Amino acid sequence: MRDCYQRKITYLRVSVTERCNFRCFYCRPREGGAASGRDIPLEHLVRVVDAGTMVGIRKVRLTGGEPLVRKDIVELTARIAGMEEIDDVALTTNGSLLRRYTPALQEAGLKRVNISLDTLKPDRFQRITCSGRLQDAWDGIEAALEYGLYPVKLNTVVMRDVNDDELLDFVALTEKLPLHVRFIEVMPIGESSERAKGQLVTAEEIKQGIESRYGNLEPIKSAAGDGPARYWKVPGAPGTVGFIAPLSGYFCDSCNRLRLTASGTLRPCLCQGDELDMNDLLTRGASRTELAALIAEAVTRKPQGHAEDTIEPVVDRLMSQIGG
Ligand code: GTP
Ligand code: 5AD
Ligand code: SF4
Repeated sequence: MRDCYQRKITYLRVSVTERCNFRCFYCRPREGGAASGRDIPLEHLVRVVDAGTMVGIRKVRLTGGEPLVRKDIVELTARIAGMEEIDDVALTTNGSLLRRYTPALQEAGLKRVNISLDTLKPDRFQRITCSGRLQDAWDGIEAALEYGLYPVKLNTVVMRDVNDDELLDFVALTEKLPLHVRFIEVMPIGESSERAKGQLVTAEEIKQGIESRYGNLEPIKSAAGDGPARYWKVPGAPGTVGFIAPLSGYFCDSCNRLRLTASGTLRPCLCQGDELDMNDLLTRGASRTELAALIAEAVTRKPQGHAEDTIEPVVDRLMSQIGG
């Protein structure tokens, strides 16, 4: 289905839990802010996706929080992958539990994964995530490669004076392994609503830094997936370098997505507080047509986007609730 700006909405991002085994300082508060509600029941999630297919949803991304902390994540994946209309089921994860789950997820029909990784230094990894171990995330990345969950994409949120000294090390990874490293401009959302502006390193600045070491990067048409990233590569490298630039590379005109938050609300736009609550319909056993009607309304309520070079701070939710 098309929204009011003629954009075709085919992609549903589902935050399956706001819980996470990490507390990356830019995403979740160090203390408190504990997940308030319970996770949305599996049956409800399945019904939302099923109803979404009636209005044209063809791609689903399971995100969070950390999706793999849900005990029923394999079953959920299988149920969604089993829907005839769904062409692509993907997962965004911090990777720490991925090795354990990779065989079962692949069996369930998971096509591919995006793994968050902001640093290659063990001590820094622990500082950023609060409790995480780099080796666990790396084991997850290797498992995704071993099992061929291609393309394996890494999400690296770039923050000035936090990890901007490591960008060439990430690029070097793409020379060794078929990994798609995506540098993400930090957005003023949730825990980052105040800090992001001062930490922003634009995609252009990152690209210039890389090209001053490697020479011109080669543009790539796409590394499967129709998200907002634009891809390049070091000539001859098996992997690619992507940029997700919501601030310097405005991409709202091609937005194709809708979000279900971990609280069971549809959020037409990542950066705006408008939401439609699905919980009442879900708990009173509404039909798929009724659910589809609410999803259609969310599509028509999609705003044009944020301003071309600014995102107003988003303070109504944490990124882990929205799901990125
Ligand atoms: P692919 O299908 O693999 O391309 O996935 P993706 O890049 O859409 O998903 P992922 O969960 O890996 O998101 C990567 C980053 O892009 C996260 O920081 C998201 O918050 C950001 N992002 C995804 N969608 C949007 C969007 O609609 N608007 C903005 N501003 N940022 C987005
Ligand atoms: N700005 C940009 N990206 C963010 N993510 C979390 N918080 C932010 C932010 N403030 C990223 C995570 C994850 C993806 C879903 O969103 O690193 O990879
Ligand atoms: Fe968890 Fe992802 Fe937030 Fe890190 S960025 S705390 S992995 S939800």
